[in-house]
This record gives sequence, structure tokens and C-alpha cells, in this order.
Amino acid sequence: MEGSKIIPYMLIAVGLMISMYISNPQIFGKPYYATLLVTSTAITVSIAIMGREKIKKLLSAKLRKSIIKDINDFHVEENIVIMPNKDIYKGAIVYTVSEIPYTFADVSQSFLLQQIRAFTNFIVASEDNTSLLLIKKSGDARKYVRNLERTITNYKVLLSADPANPYIQRKLQKLEALFNRISRGETPINVKIYLIASAQDRNVRKLYEKLRRKGETLSSSFKASLGLELRKASEEEVLEAITHGLLGESKPITMLESDLSFLTPIGYVKRPKISGEGIFIGEDIDYGTLVFYDFEKHLTKHMVIIGPTGRGKTTLLYTIAKRVIEQYDVPIWILDLRGEFIGLSKTMGISVVDPEKTPINLMLPWFTSPRLRARQLIDLIKSLTDLEPAEEYILYMSILKSYERAQQPNLETLIRVIQEEKSSSSELELKFYTLLTKIEQLNSKVFLGSSYSNVFSIVKKPVIFALYKLPEEYRKIYALAILQILTNYMLTLTPTNKLRHLVLIDEAWRLTDTKSGSKIIRSLIKEGRGYGLAVALASQDITDFPKDVLDNAGTVIVFGSNSKDYIEAVARYMKLNEEEEERMTWLKTGEALIRITGDPRPIWVKIIPESMEAQSIVSKAENR
Ligand SMILES: Nc1ncnc2c1ncn2[C@@H]1O[C@H](COP(=O)(O)OP(=O)(O)OP(=O)(O)O)[C@@H](O)[C@H]1O
Ligand SMILES: [Mg+2]
Repeated sequence: MEGSKIIPYMLIAVGLMISMYISNPQIFGKPYYATLLVTSTAITVSIAIMGREKIKKLLSAKLRKSIIKDINDFHVEENIVIMPNKDIYKGAIVYTVSEIPYTFADVSQSFLLQQIRAFTNFIVASEDNTSLLLIKKSGDARKYVRNLERTITNYKVLLSADPANPYIQRKLQKLEALFNRISRGETPINVKIYLIASAQDRNVRKLYEKLRRKGETLSSSFKASLGLELRKASEEEVLEAITHGLLGESKPITMLESDLSFLTPIGYVKRPKISGEGIFIGEDIDYGTLVFYDFEKHLTKHMVIIGPTGRGKTTLLYTIAKRVIEQYDVPIWILDLRGEFIGLSKTMGISVVDPEKTPINLMLPWFTSPRLRARQLIDLIKSLTDLEPAEEYILYMSILKSYERAQQPNLETLIRVIQEEKSSSSELELKFYTLLTKIEQLNSKVFLGSSYSNVFSIVKKPVIFALYKLPEEYRKIYALAILQILTNYMLTLTPTNKLRHLVLIDEAWRLTDTKSGSKIIRSLIKEGRGYGLAVALASQDITDFPKDVLDNAGTVIVFGSNSKDYIEAVARYMKLNEEEEERMTWLKTGEALIRITGDPRPIWVKIIPESMEAQSIVSKAENR
């Protein structure tokens, strides 16, 4: 405190003493007067030493502590404002941006994009009830430029006196860069940027705690994502912020227009709504956030996984399977064509069906009518071998006859029926022979009897079908047959939009390489959908999937590749822009682009897999 300001207090103290002396000269002999005198002198001296402001603050802080217990009016303390509202307290904590590095205009396009993304991410990830407020204040741009010129001149003079001073060099560089930007047409503006988090609580102390916690998270994530410093707002600034600039007169920061680039909503990346619901998939490459996949919500629209060999399709399916079993109480069927999923039987205790030991009688009606089953059987056989129209007709009629002939017909019944029919028609004799040869291909014990005495034992529990144990030529028929059975079974249930059953098909191309194979997969997906059947398919090329399966995929996951053809096809299908197309070529193993229905912007994800306990039993060289 300056000397001149002490004088009035001194005068008051001296005046007090004189008046007491005049009224009673004996006064100083009495002890209580002495106490009074010492106290008043002490107060005067402390005011003189500490300054009025500090004393005021000290007192008001004490006063406030008692107010906190019972706030019944609008109340500002530090950067927190509290308002009582009926039987609840509402409050806000306010921060202000203290400085914006003015380098954004000088940085590259991609840095800018990154900054905008970081901002978007900050908004997405920040807690609810957060406001970001920009107040533009009046300012004299010309005066600012004149001041800037003067400061630059001053620093130049300083630098000429001390040419090696790094501080002056840096400062001058910054100022000159700023000046250049203004010369290029940017306008200085005065702004205040406030970040406000609000909350409410019945208990005012709890509200303070809540606000402080929110404030800390908010300011640290703002700093982490955008690199911008925040500081606590002063009481005046709090007032300004909550009245949108109407009250309070804080000092603004002056900046150039492009410094506001981080607030500009261009290039806004719309991100799929991924929450903590569902199973964990991996990490968003751009944002570092965790990606979850909500099966209940999305998978009933089926998932398509595309990726060249070795990129991680099987690993992803394995990971999905394990996490679904852990988290959901739904049966899951895994068609294991290469022995890569057996690890799940050990770790998760899923039953393994060995098809060699579990024959499946293709001729049974399997939850549907004889006529429909006859058509399905024709599709099965056509997925293995072509049928001429005449052959197809003979087959259809013969299947229906078999149903009349036997309670539980099998392929042998069918062959017998065809042989009998043959003798009655000489014209078509050749067709009968060729058809018989084709049917004979299936005449294996795998398709004769049926050990599914109780089919519910397989449709209602998690099963790995160890198809790789079958001879190559039977794998496809067996796989397609059990998918037909599952489709038929699902259709006997009541329609639902809840997840009831999940089917994972790796190496889908092995099943879709013929028209009728494709047809079976299509009806599995299309008909099963309304009955809670979800399907996830993985294959190497887009062309491995029937067109309508691709068009209606709820979720698409594509891995990267170096192949130009692959990238072009994927880009066309996913409607990627050039930058995204380029990016596809840079993806590493386990990294993929994920698109979920309803959210057109895909996200780049690093899949964080489960370890696959058992090694592949069939060597990869044997395949494709
Ligand atoms: N997300 C991931 N993170 C780390 N490594 C991975 C990831 N996904 C796959 N890998 C590794 O990459 C290799 C190939 O993975 P995977 O067998 O799943 O590929 P694929 O796409 O199924 O190949 P193919 O078409 O030959 O069947 C494996 O060694 C696996 O450990
Ligand atoms: Mg694989």
C-alpha cells in the first residue's frame, strides 16, 4: 500500500486517541480503554499494511462460508455460480480460454482437419450440460494494427542492440507472422471464449463438489484434445458468461479470424453412435475412443466382413464369438471350415459337432412342408452340381413320391424311387441316368441317417460345426443343409426384433460360389431377420457376397489391402472419397473400416482381438 493511502487511517487513529483524551484525560490509565486503543490501532495498522481489498476478501470469504450453508439468492464464488431454484440448487463452473496460439492459419490442411476432428471429438466426449460460448466484443482493429507495428519497431530496436537474444528473436518472429497475416487480409477481433459446465443438486455442498469435478475433467480434456489453455474465470467473467456478455466487462483476447478455425464446423465428422453397450471391438484409430458393437441393435441386420487373406477376418469372428458368448445368452453357431475356432470349445465350453459322427438326413422335412423341402433339396444338390430342367423336374417329383412312400425317407428311398420311375419312361431314360449319377455323389452315410434325434439340442445351444473334418466334397452340402434347417426352424417361432440366434460364417465364398448356394445364404439372412436370427459372414472379396446381402448389410467391416482392384471395388461399394480410398491402402493387419447402418460416415478401427488358443488345424496352403 502506498504511503499516501496510510495517512487517512493514521489520522483516524490519532483523532480517536485525541478525542478520548479530551473527554477524559485519565482514560489511558484504565485497562479497558487501553485494550480498545490497542485494538483500534491494530486494525488501522493492519488495514494500512494489507490493503483494503485483501481485508475485504478475507472477510467476505468468511462470510461466504456461512452463506454456503444457506444460499437463498444468486451467488458467485471464484468461478462457480449457484442459484437456488425451488427445492434444488443449480450451478455452473466457468472457464475461459486464456490464449490461442495464432499458428493455425499457417499450418497444413491435414493439421487443420485434425484440429477440427479433435474439437468434434471433444464435444462428443465431453459430459452433458456443457456450453461453449463465444462472445465477440467491440474493438478497434486499426488501433490494434498500429500498436502491433509500434511493438514490432520496438523489438527491432531491441534486437539490433542485442542481436543474439533468442527471446527477442522469437517474439519478433511471432509478431511479424501475425502482422503478415493481417497484411494478407485477416482481421483482428476481440473475443472471449467461455467453457461452462452446469449441474444441479439438492445439497449445495454436493453441487460444489460436482461442479469442481466436472470443471476439472472439462478443462483437462479441452487442453488434451485441442492444446488450448483454460483458466478459471474471475467473478466478473462468470457474470459475463452467464449473462452472455450483458453484464461484466472482462478484458478480451485479440486474435485473427483464422485462430477461430478450431471452432469452425467444417469437415465435421459424423460418427456412428457407439456407446459402452454391446461387445468390445477395438479402438477408434482417429480418436482413441473405445468401440463397442451393440448386437441387439445392429446385428439383426447382419454383418459383412471383407478382407484379403491374412488381414484378420477369422480373428475378428473368433473375437466376436468369444465376447458374445461371455455377454449374451444366445445360441451361436460357428461354421468352422478350417478348424480355427476349436479353441472356443476349450475356453468357452461350446460343444463341437463332428459331422462324420453326426449324420444329417437331408430327406427329412425339417420343420417345413414336403413341397418346400423338395425345393430346398434341389437347391442343395444344385449347389454341388448343375441340373438340367428335365432332371430337376424328375428330382422334384421323385422327392415328393418319397415322402408318400416312407415316414422317414432318406437318400436311399429317393434313389429307389428314381430307379422305379425310370423304367416307366423310355424317352427320358438318359436324364434318369444322369440324375442318378448326380444323386449318388451324395449317397454317403453323412447324409443318410440322422443322429439329430432331438433337433432342439442343436438349434438351442452354442455349437461349433467342425466341417473341416468332412471330406472336402461334403463340407458345403453339410453347411448349407444345417443353415436351411436353422432357417426353417426360426420360421416356426413368433416374429421378434430381439436377438435369438447368431450364426458366424467364415470363408463365406465356399458356400456362395454357386447360384443356389447364394440363394440359401440369402434366405437365411432375409427370412431369418424378422425372427431374431443374426448372421455375420466373412470373405475375401466383395464379389463373394450376393448383391442384396451387401446392399442390406447392417454392418460392414472392410480390412485394408494393397490391391488396386480390391480398393476400387470397396471404395465404390462404401462410397469412399479419394482420401479414404488412399487410407484403405495404408491399413495394417487388424485395422479396418467399419460402417454401421444409419451412420453414413465410416470409422477406422484397430481391432483388439482375443487370443486364439488353438492353432489352425488345417494348413492355410491347402485352401483356395
Ligand atoms: N486385430 C489384430 N491384431 C493383431 N493381430 C492380428 C489381428 N487380426 C489378425 N491378426 C493376426 O494376423 C494373422 C492373420 O489373421 P487371420 O487368420 O484372422 O486373417 P484372415 O483374414 O482370416 O486370413 P485368411 O483369409 O487367410 O483366412 C494372424 O496371425 C493373427 O494373429
Ligand atoms: Mg481366415
